Amino acid sequence: MQFINEEVERFAHDHSSRESDLFGRLQDETYATMQYPQMQVGRIEGQFLKMLVRLLDARRVLEIGMFTGYSALMMAEGLPDDGQLITCDINPKAEEIARRYFAESPHGRKIEIRMGPALETIEELTGPLDMVFIDADKQNYVNYYNACLPRLRPGGLIVADNVLWSGKVVQPDDDDTRAIVAFNERVNSDARVENVCLTVRDGIMLAWKG
Ligand SMILES: C[S@@+](CC[C@H](N)C(=O)[O-])C[C@H]1O[C@@H](n2cnc3c(N)ncnc32)[C@H](O)[C@@H]1O
Repeated sequence: MQFINEEVERFAHDHSSRESDLFGRLQDETYATMQYPQMQVGRIEGQFLKMLVRLLDARRVLEIGMFTGYSALMMAEGLPDDGQLITCDINPKAEEIARRYFAESPHGRKIEIRMGPALETIEELTGPLDMVFIDADKQNYVNYYNACLPRLRPGGLIVADNVLWSGKVVQPDDDDTRAIVAFNERVNSDARVENVCLTVRDGIMLAWKG
């Protein structure tokens, strides 16, 4: 389900900063070779993530769910030269594509890929994070949130994608939808954060740690 009328969505897309050609090629290759290529965040959400990185003055960002690297590279563009983006995935085919595009970009050297189940990677992380982008397996959203919040600096932000799950959250009848509803409820009842659930793309939750 698209929440916004297609023409209006196109207008918003066309009036958001244009990404470099590299992103266009990454999209083309992802659509030609990968299953579920629409998992890529695309221009509007990608520019939004980059904007959040800039506004937070973030230096250390964690991404959970890299896929072929679109959102990782967008966020890396928003980081300062000495910034770091750690990104997790378990799909070696996606990793191979992401590594090639990261190598082509001057911002790619800010990105550290950690392959393996993200929960294990998070457990190994020390030191404060400025921002976390959750965009992997829905069943673990609550676990990712619980593991990341203590590692987030005060004033840091957790951003979670697909929190409206094509609108199915209002009538959950499968495990992924129920997991997403549980995540939204967990965040919304957590006194440690202020949160807003946005209807951008497939729904984006912002949880700011006070
Ligand atoms: C929605 S896609 C991420 C899209 C990406 N953010 C982008 O904009 O291109 C979700 C990714 O999470 C990865 N994933 C699924 N389960 C995972 C896990 N347990 N640990 C790490 N990554 C996982 C999948 O392999 C997939 O590439």
